[in-house]
Amino acid sequence: MDLIEETKDYIRELFRENAGGHDAGHTLRVWRTAKMLAAEEPGCDPMTAELAALLHDADDYKLFQTENNANARAFMASHGVPQEMAERVCAAVNAVSFSKNRGRAPDTPEGRVVQDADRLDAMGAVGIARTFAFGGEHGRPIEDSIRHFHEKLLLLKGLMNTDAGKRMAEKRHAVLEEFLREYEEEAGS
Ligand code: ADP
Ligand code: NI
Repeated sequence: MDLIEETKDYIRELFRENAGGHDAGHTLRVWRTAKMLAAEEPGCDPMTAELAALLHDADDYKLFQTENNANARAFMASHGVPQEMAERVCAAVNAVSFSKNRGRAPDTPEGRVVQDADRLDAMGAVGIARTFAFGGEHGRPIEDSIRHFHEKLLLLKGLMNTDAGKRMAEKRHAVLEEFLREYEEEAGS
């Protein structure tokens, strides 16, 4: 089996108990999108970007109490990823998180690609589904999730780093707007 397939298996196992917003499905979609964006991004190393996409939530503080990318590092060390590539993967993963990166744009092509791919998964039809799954998981009323669209999801289009990401964001943003328009019309407000 090749490294990418082995990483996918690792992710399916790692996330097997998480439903909703952070299931393996999220990571696999981010990988698929990142692969497309990486093909177009100047200077982007595809293998580094793909590994970073697959491992981007493997040490998420909300799910795993690991330090210094321990899950990602252990996986890569046991699967023969060269140390230098592992460092670049971890740097890209750490640049994806808004809070860890203090709001700055990632300074590597791989970081920019994976951040865009992660954000694209919070937009469009999938983004709508994840938002209500999150709200349900936390016992929140539907109106709280509607507010999340305005506070966060509608801003994502303007935060895209890559040209390919910007193009994909156009359509997904339009889906969010269309959904909100229809929701407000049906729900009245
Ligand atoms: P990630 O770590 O993959 O970037 P987040 O943990 O920020 O994602 O969010 C996971 C999903 O839950 C996203 O689709 C996001 O829009 C949704 N979400 C996050 N916060 C809220 C909220 N307060 N209300 C509704 N949905 C939310
Ligand atoms: Ni994510």
